[in-house]
Amino acid sequence: MTQAIHDAVDDYLNKGLGGLWHPVCKSVQVKANKPFARLIAGERLVLWRDTKGKVHCVEDYCPHRGAKLSLGEVHEDNLACRYHGVTVDGTGTIVRVPAMPECALEGRRPLTSYAAEEAGDAVFIYLPSADQPEPTPFNPPEELINGEWEVFCCMTQWDCSYRLSLDNGADPMHASYLHADSFTLAYGSKQDTMKLTKTGDGFIIERVSQQGVNFDYSHIVGNGDMMFMRLDIPYPDGAGPGGPFRIIGFATPIDRDTHHSFFWRCRKVSGLAADSWRFLYRAFLEDRHWHVLEQDRVMLESIPVDARKREMLYQHDSGVSQLRRMMVRKAKAHLEASEQMAHRETG
Ligand code: FES
Ligand SMILES: [Fe+2]
Repeated sequence: MTQAIHDAVDDYLNKGLGGLWHPVCKSVQVKANKPFARLIAGERLVLWRDTKGKVHCVEDYCPHRGAKLSLGEVHEDNLACRYHGVTVDGTGTIVRVPAMPECALEGRRPLTSYAAEEAGDAVFIYLPSADQPEPTPFNPPEELINGEWEVFCCMTQWDCSYRLSLDNGADPMHASYLHADSFTLAYGSKQDTMKLTKTGDGFIIERVSQQGVNFDYSHIVGNGDMMFMRLDIPYPDGAGPGGPFRIIGFATPIDRDTHHSFFWRCRKVSGLAADSWRFLYRAFLEDRHWHVLEQDRVMLESIPVDARKREMLYQHDSGVSQLRRMMVRKAKAHLEASEQMAHRETG
């Protein structure tokens, strides 16, 4: 890779990888009758619910003179700008210019719209890429939709690149050190080697000589249109019913220096066991989990943005390296497609 391509790929990845469905907020944040603003991968977006409760998402930009649509009002299924009332629908089409009868702007579609779906109490949007500009079918992690898991959606904002959060998920070994004082992650040995196994949807990075004790493996999914981590934390008997505590983690870019970390805390329980798990989680475990996440946040926010240029990786970082290769491959494909598009446009 030439230095120029390397820099272009890095720049694009820092802004936010497209061609993916990203969770952008909790479902409860998009209320009926009220637009909700979000910055995602450097793009200002606005979300709202129509009369049936379906979420829509377009650029947060009024096509008339550029005011933020998120300052406006929801009118039935559409969103009206507060400034002069110009109204757009969920496809980014102007449906009404109330101040001017039969205005020629009506029917034009000047705004980019984003496909929006909900799963696991969160809203996801499809962030397009040059090679896949149209949204792909929405297939979230099965734990969020198959009804067999009780899931809690947790979302937080961290002041570091989403790339650092993804690296963190591909690095199970950090748990034995960073989280050594925690309720669930205090067990096991502090030395090991790591094994990497490719899967159809990504790869698994796991400890060679320890399984089922601590955060001993991470499944990184990222070959398709979702990029997330799946990991299990074995639970001591005192932590209630169900098997291991599963975490599904996403990192959604806000801008180069900030991201939303999404974690679904999942347990495979149903009926009465599900009730007792929910109670236990709310009453005792939730605070401990935030404490563990806080340790990750402090560590990741301490890493300089350009640390990648002088880091010294060793065998345990094979998951981090594989994840980065996966992301670079995608980024190169997106940049090549956008270059080809630019060529076609200039003839
Ligand atoms: S700027 Fe939005 S209607 Fe004029
Ligand atoms: Fe961690």
